[in-house]
Amino acid sequence: MIDFQDRVAIVTGAGGGLGRSHALLLAGRGASVVVNDLGGEVGGSGSSETPAQQVVDEIVAAGGSAVAEYSSVATPDGGDAIVAKALEEFGRVDIVVNNAGILRDKSFGKLEWPDLDAVIDVHLKGAFYVTRAAFAHMKEQNYGRVVVTSSNAGLFGNFGQTNYGAAKLGLVGFMNVLKIEGAKNNIKVNAIAPVAHTRMTEELLGPLAEMLQPEQVSPAVAYLCSEACELTGEIWSAAGGSVSRIFIGLTDGYFKPASDGPLTIEDVQDNLEVIRDPDGHIVPFSIQDELSKLGPKFG
Ligand code: NAI
Repeated sequence: MIDFQDRVAIVTGAGGGLGRSHALLLAGRGASVVVNDLGGEVGGSGSSETPAQQVVDEIVAAGGSAVAEYSSVATPDGGDAIVAKALEEFGRVDIVVNNAGILRDKSFGKLEWPDLDAVIDVHLKGAFYVTRAAFAHMKEQNYGRVVVTSSNAGLFGNFGQTNYGAAKLGLVGFMNVLKIEGAKNNIKVNAIAPVAHTRMTEELLGPLAEMLQPEQVSPAVAYLCSEACELTGEIWSAAGGSVSRIFIGLTDGYFKPASDGPLTIEDVQDNLEVIRDPDGHIVPFSIQDELSKLGPKFG
């Protein structure tokens, strides 16, 4: 049985939806949880202490340990305050689940800059602020588990979500670098791309909604937060009890040796199939893997 005894977890945006479900599961398996939530609307306006407090009450009523925290993740001070709460209440921080999020969907031509800023600030910069405040403690204790919440909107694409998609794929870049910087201190950094019926997806999922409960996503997140998890830099899709890996691959591609002359535009055009053929692709862990694949081509 995987448990989180003596572990302290921060779950951002845990006042409802997926975050609430992650917090309840982690607390149910013994973690002390900082339930952070600003308590605003889906679009990010407003604030309320009620959602976070209600989740804390639920955890405590079930015999668990939790404290509410109401800061916005979208400022450096907010990130610091959330981590300070974990240290004050529980004395350490082992797990950060970056889950807080908002939506400001607009087709690209209609996007207004405040909609871009707000979405980048919460999803992408929010993960920087909260994770960095925790990272120093994780390094010192040689242990940490960080999960970022990406999205199929950024990984695969969806109409009307350039701001959101860019923020969500930005988190994958964040993960890819932090997994390397955290490696020697046993800090694992992974990403989840969930699909779940929450207020955010109220009108999007149609008849599938009923099958897509947040509780069917949280076990994948909790695994990535556990000591048992040796994986780092993975992106997992989790939806309705289905868990899959999403990855960024590099095809073997076309190669023209220097002895055959310089690469031309027509070489590219004539070899589209070879360039795009997924057979023999690799999933690089870092840029070293890409360079290692390139090296032998030069002989
Ligand atoms: P939700 O709206 O129920 O939960 C988001 C929570 O974040 C809310 O409780 C909100 O108050 C909180 N929040 C928003 N801005 C905040 C801020 N600045 N600081 C602290 N808390 C803040 O929506 P849901 O679906 O549970 O979303 C959770 C995460 O999963 C989000 O990052 C979302 O983008 C992501 N996601 C959800 C999908 C789904 O199918 N529900 C699909 C892909 C990604």
